[in-house]
Amino acid sequence: MCGIVGYVGHRPALDVVLGGLRRMEYRGYDSAGVAVLDGAGALTVERKAGRLANLEAELDKVGRENFGGTAGMGHTRWATHGAPVDRNSHPHRDSTQRVAVVHNGIIENFATLRAELEAAGVEMASDTDSETAAHLIARAYDEGDTKGDFTASVAAVCRRLEGAFTLVVTHADHPDTIVAARRSSPLVVGVGEGEHFVASDVAAFIEHTREAVELGQDQLVVISREGYEVTDFHGDAAQAKPFTVDWDLSAAEKGGHEYFMLKEIEEQPEALANTLRGHFESGRIILDEQRISDQDLRDVDKVFVVACGSAYHSGLVAKYAIEHWTRLPVEVELASEFRYRDPVLDRDTLVVAVSQSGETADTLEAVRHAREQKARVLAVCNTNGAQIPRESDAVLYTHAGPEIGVASTKAFLAQIAANYLVGLALAQARGTKYPDEVAREFAELEAMPAAVHKVLSTVEQTRDLGRRIADSRAVLFLGRHVGFPVALEGALKLKELAYMHAEGFAAGELKHGPIALIEEGLPVVVVMPSPKGRAVLHSKLVSNISEIQARGARTIVIAEEGDETVRPFADELHRGPRRPDAAAAARLHRAAAGARRGDRPRPRVRRRQAA
Ligand code: BG6
Repeated sequence: MCGIVGYVGHRPALDVVLGGLRRMEYRGYDSAGVAVLDGAGALTVERKAGRLANLEAELDKVGRENFGGTAGMGHTRWATHGAPVDRNSHPHRDSTQRVAVVHNGIIENFATLRAELEAAGVEMASDTDSETAAHLIARAYDEGDTKGDFTASVAAVCRRLEGAFTLVVTHADHPDTIVAARRSSPLVVGVGEGEHFVASDVAAFIEHTREAVELGQDQLVVISREGYEVTDFHGDAAQAKPFTVDWDLSAAEKGGHEYFMLKEIEEQPEALANTLRGHFESGRIILDEQRISDQDLRDVDKVFVVACGSAYHSGLVAKYAIEHWTRLPVEVELASEFRYRDPVLDRDTLVVAVSQSGETADTLEAVRHAREQKARVLAVCNTNGAQIPRESDAVLYTHAGPEIGVASTKAFLAQIAANYLVGLALAQARGTKYPDEVAREFAELEAMPAAVHKVLSTVEQTRDLGRRIADSRAVLFLGRHVGFPVALEGALKLKELAYMHAEGFAAGELKHGPIALIEEGLPVVVVMPSPKGRAVLHSKLVSNISEIQARGARTIVIAEEGDETVRPFADELHRGPRRPDAAAAARLHRAAAGARRGDRPRPRVRRRQAA
């Protein structure tokens, strides 16, 4: 996730901004940039791909004395739209170079806005969605109702933007003011003596002030040396939440958490929402990059998902849905095994390579092997411009933000959502789902962030469980259907993080051997399916639990809210949100964008003729 800092005060802005960017390096980034207003109408910008050190070296080369001013802003970018190269780095400027913008988030309607700007003769200097904001603000300032009013121009453009954004904007005509705005992306104000800050998080300014104000949804703030003013996007006064930061610097970098992984676990709803955002437009699933034709997608007759670790488990979870939606056979394979056997691949095989980093050696080699066999490769990746997406025919990015904790958490959930989107894209291309069915499935996916948020509110109960089973010799995880790969992932997390012996099993396999491991007091975590959605599997799993409970195991059951059947068999019950019921699904369906059934005929899947 990008890091943003803005400053108006009495100190040299370049030093404050670079210091802030250094404090936010932990967020991960692939380029950095700064803009400084010198007070005499000059707006100076420098940006560079790579580490902050590259930017600093460039500043030394061009001369830091050219950046003398006490108002400015900086940005560390985690690429979403466009590769991590100099021209895509922030700040972005309008054509007259008087407006500069830094942005965190994804502007969903950027393609429409960009087309509108290009039709008006604006030449784009980057591949980013962010640049459109700079041009739109400059135009709003130069003409129409908001002419000459910097704040109103930013507000007017915010009203037009769809998606998630934190924007920080400077205008050369207003050297003592910075305007910042947010929707579904963080923004805090730092309140100092004769100086004010805006930033993506308090780590950026904590060495200067501990007094902060957290902006609410769709709010805008104007900062100057003297003060700050918060409004909504219509210019009406709005309430923001003041607070005093009592974390030390190292905790501030982790959003107040003890570990990056805890921070990333908390970021899961946002990671999911960002992954879905921008991938469904005008009733269609959209990939980020597609270098193969729609016909090639229609011709796919077999899917392999190749990945390692949690990414592999995300493929196992999605396999059920992809097969169900597309009627294509889906094999999920460990990348480290795939390339050492002789998988049956040809040009109608789609290999979906899932990787958070996009650089995992086994997955990359699997991609290369698949391409040598002429198979098509679609990458699901969290890192823009990494090797795996570069070598693939199509790409769908999970916009989970950088994952610093090595064992995957938020990226795993984002991968599941992205794999589902791949399944829907295939179903759409092959015509095995009507447009309204695709819209309904997407609407169900959109309900996931709120459901995950709810689960996170029970984290204390889970923490307490962790403490109580920490000394166990081993922990088993059981599940059926999608609960089986979830059980595998649970066991993997326990091995990798707690260094405990843990195994995941398909519950139906219990009687074929693993039941021998059940002993008095052994914690067994059971992932229950929905009693309504999967009634048969549910009752089978209930009998599995009663069996292991009879052998003295300590049953820890994760079941849907309202599932009371399991209670007698659960030594400990943990709740997950209810699967959307038919009524909720129908509501989601109605709310979903997209065409209605019958808008167009179901396309026929073209069969390749034998040569
Ligand atoms: C492992 C991590 O080393 O790599 C896992 O511990 C991760 O959590 C796996 O899932 C694969 O990484 P990537 O970057 O290819 O998704």
